[in-house]
Amino acid sequence: MKIAIINGPNLNLLGTRETSIYGAQTFETFFEDLKSKYPAIEFHYFQSNVEGELVNEIQRLGFSYDGIIINPAAYTHTSVAIGDAIAAIKTPVIEVHISNIFGREDFRKLSHVSGKSVGVISGLGLKGYALAVEYFHSK
Ligand code: DQA
Repeated sequence: MKIAIINGPNLNLLGTRETSIYGAQTFETFFEDLKSKYPAIEFHYFQSNVEGELVNEIQRLGFSYDGIIINPAAYTHTSVAIGDAIAAIKTPVIEVHISNIFGREDFRKLSHVSGKSVGVISGLGLKGYALAVEYFHSK
C-alpha cells in the first residue's frame, strides 16, 4: 500500500512556528515514528510553500497511490487550483488540519478542499495524520 502525505506552506516550520497552536514537535520526528508503526506501508512525503508545486505533486501521485493525506495549510482557504486537482485525480484524499479551523478566524472556515475529499480531520494535532493513515490502512 502506498500512502502520500502532502504538506502546504509554512508546515516546514512545525516545531518552531506558533507552538501554542501547532505544537512543539517537528513533522520529521512525527513522521519517523509514524513510519515505524506501519512498516508495510510505502510512505511518500512532500512539502512545498509553492501552490503550483502542490498541484503538480497531487497530479503526479493521484493515479497510482492508494491514499493521499493533505494539509494544504493556508492554501486550503484560497486555492481553487488545489481543490480542482483533488477533484481531477483517482486517489482518495483526506484533508487534515492540526488546529481546529472551525474554531479560529472566520476566513479559515472556508475550505476549497473539503468537498473534494473523502473526509476531514481538524483540530487533533499531528495525531490527525496518524488517524488518516489508519483509515486507509484499515479499508
Ligand atoms: C492549518 C490551518 C490553516 O488555517 C493555516 O493556514 C495553516 C495550518 C492547520 O494545520 O491547522 O497553515 O492547515
